[in-house]
This record gives sequence, structure tokens and C-alpha cells, in this order.
Amino acid sequence: MNFNNHMRGKMILANGFHMPTRNKVDVLKNVVISVETDGRIKELIRPEEPTYKEKLKSAENEGKLVKLPKGSFLIPGLIDNHVHASQYPQLGQALDVPLEIWLNKYTFPLEARFADIDFAKSTYSLLVDDLISMGTTTSMYYATIHQDATRILADICLEKGQRALVGKIAMDNRDQCPDYYRDKSADASIRGTSDFFDYVKAHPDNKDDMLNAVVTPRFIPSCSDAALEGLGAFTREKKAYVQTHCSEGDWEHNYVIDRFGITDTEALDKFGLLGRKSLMGHCPHLTESDKEIFLKRGTTISHCPLSNSYFASSVLPLRSALEKGIKVGLATDISGGPSYSMFEAMKSAIACSRMLETGNNPYFLPEERRGCPDSRIDFRDAFYISTTGNGEALDLPIGYFTKGFYFDAVVIDTTVKSGSIRLWDDLDIGDNILQKIVYTATRPNISTVWVGGKQIH
Ligand code: GUN
Ligand code: FE
Repeated sequence: MNFNNHMRGKMILANGFHMPTRNKVDVLKNVVISVETDGRIKELIRPEEPTYKEKLKSAENEGKLVKLPKGSFLIPGLIDNHVHASQYPQLGQALDVPLEIWLNKYTFPLEARFADIDFAKSTYSLLVDDLISMGTTTSMYYATIHQDATRILADICLEKGQRALVGKIAMDNRDQCPDYYRDKSADASIRGTSDFFDYVKAHPDNKDDMLNAVVTPRFIPSCSDAALEGLGAFTREKKAYVQTHCSEGDWEHNYVIDRFGITDTEALDKFGLLGRKSLMGHCPHLTESDKEIFLKRGTTISHCPLSNSYFASSVLPLRSALEKGIKVGLATDISGGPSYSMFEAMKSAIACSRMLETGNNPYFLPEERRGCPDSRIDFRDAFYISTTGNGEALDLPIGYFTKGFYFDAVVIDTTVKSGSIRLWDDLDIGDNILQKIVYTATRPNISTVWVGGKQIH
């Protein structure tokens, strides 16, 4: 199916799914969504509404109606809130060692290569194309320490029409970062961040919330106290987005306690890095009082289930975080997580939650200490934290279909033979179709992608 259709100033007639609230899938049946010329949603009209027929007819007469064919379903664009763009070349490899070794053995040498502009251009272009093709309409990216290459990533996202939040990594700690890949000083970390913010703000093509800059201290071990203090002050002054890693595995969690005598969360908070636009990667080792800090600050847990299976030495108690009211968004964590697909991330989130609930060591009896009861989530929570949850985490009008939100949307074609979704008309009805989409969609099923009403795939 190829519409070659921008949706700005038009209407779409579609079946589909979204989740304005947790726990309940809103099944959209023959709804009409009209899009303003600025790419925001004007209204979502259901067949029961009195003006439905008339609006549909006039859009059709004016040639402004796009109709999805049978077997195609509209969902909100998927949002990936934790992507190491520069690690794309090692996706699917190098997962044989713990995080603290992985960084020095594989990851820093790879990231250092982004001093080469041509390498940055070709790698970032390929990544952004692949993510769009997989239905990811918004990504929050870590780039590298390089100013030029980070700007290139921002340019490429704007050029290709993917909504993006981009951070130039700050890492200056001599004890933890190699000479060949380190900011020269705390000052260089802070100035580099500030320069990149200026670049994004002044970018002539940046409008409609398409591009934001993010304060990005890699994680506490990589940063000096002076850098963390300076970045915290900058964050407060600019009310900026922040991304970093927090209590990811035992090593990181204990490193921060050894260095500061307090937890990762408490330390980040002390430096002024936790706010409502702060997204903290991983977080499985948060203490109960850390969680209270997250709640108080409105800070988000970036859940990276697949990556956690390799590096975190535990499973995030996701459901309990959601039930406490902590903001949670889902992410791939390329390349700690060896898949760029948010569908894989959703499946991993579900599977990990099931393993947490039952436990996984058969040497323990179920009723002893094999699992944590009431930990499971299902496809609804997985989809929710990939769309609405991530929209809230990023404080952007995206994630579901409602007036004033951007028309960031994906068409799932369940009929393509080369795809992997198989439906039976009489068996698959209601939100069960969404369940099958979450569990079985692959790249050929992503037929159309819009961001802000512009078709980008
Ligand atoms: N902690 C610090 N850097 C990284 C990284 O690149 N990936 C992951 N998963 N954790 C980190
Ligand atoms: Fe990460």
C-alpha cells in the first residue's frame, strides 16, 4: 500500500488502537481523524457522532479523505526513549561481558570513531531510516562526545522527518574514561552541552517540537563532580531535558554508593539532574526511598527490558512502578539491547515481567522464593508505555490521538505475505488484534509512517 499522502489538511478513515489511559485499549472502529495544516489533530470523530456522516462526505467530495483498506490498522507512532545512536554498528554483537568491561572493550572504541564525520553521516542515516521503517516516530538519542557528529545526527533526524531528542554525551572522569574518548575537562563537558543546545535552538529547520537537545551525562561513573554540578546548574537554568543511566546493574549501583555514600538516585537529585523532563535509563536497583524521589520529581524510568537481560543483573519491577504512579517509558537501548524494534522491546517487557512473577530458578520451590507475585504485565501495559507513557515522559503532545496532539501515526498492514501477522476474521476481534500486532509485527507490516502529518515512510 502506498498513499504517497501527507495528512496535513486532510482526514483519515481508519480502524485502529490507542490507549489514552492505562489498562484500557480504545478500539477505534471506522473513526475519522482530521489533521490541521500544521500537523496537529483537529478532531477524532466516531461514527456515533451526529456530524460524522456529513464531515466524511464533504472530505470525500473535496478529495481530502484517505481511507485505510481492510486489514490495515492505525496506531500512534512508537516512541523509543533510550537509544545509543552511535552503537548501531555493534547491534547484535559484543554482549559477552558485563557492562563495565563492555564499555571499555567494545563501546568506547566504537563511539570514538564518530570523530570521523563520514562515518557519523552514513551510520546515523542508516539508523534513522531503519527506525522509521520499524514504526519509531520519536527517538531520544545518545550520540557521542563529538560536537560535529552530534549535530549531524540532529540534522539527519530533521531532514528525514523523525521527531528526536538528541544529547551530546558528557564524560570527563579520568578514572573511568580512556584518554582517547573523554571530554578534556569538566568545563569542556559543560560548554559542549551548552554549544549543542545553542545549535538546536538556532536551527532554521527546527519547528513543531521536531528536535530537542538533552543534557546527557553518560552516567555518574563517567563524570567528575564538577561536570555533574555544572550540568545540574545548566539543567535548572534551561529547564532542560536530561538523560542518563541510573542504578542499572550492581556495579554501577555500588560504585555510586562507594563514591558518594548515597544511592545513584540521591546523588543525581543532589546534582539537580532529576526533574519532570529527566529520563533515567534502566533503574532496576532503585530502593523504595529512591522511588519516592522519582515520584516527587516527576522523573521517568526508561525501561530497557532486553538490555537489562544482559547488563542489569535483575528485572525492573515494572508493574509495581506503574502502580505506584511513577512515570515509565519503554526503550530498546540499542546496542545493550540487540534489537532496534519497539515491538521486540514490548515483547521483552512482557516476558521479563512474567519471569519476575514466576521466578526462574527451578531449584527453588514456587512457594518459597522463586518469584515476585503480581509482577506480570500484558500487551496493554507494554503498548501503553511505548506510546502514551513515553509521550508523557517526554512532555510532548504525542502518544495517542486527541485534539491538539501531533498526528504521529503508523499503519500496520496485517495482510502482507512477507510480514508475520496472521489474523482470522472470525477469531481475531477487538483488542486481540492489537495483541497480535504487539507479539508478531515485523518490518514488512509497517506500511506507512507519519510524523506531524507528514508521510516519512
Ligand atoms: N552505562 C553507561 N553507558 C552505557 C551504555 O552505553 N549502555 C548501557 N546499557 N549502559 C550504560
Ligand atoms: Fe543505555
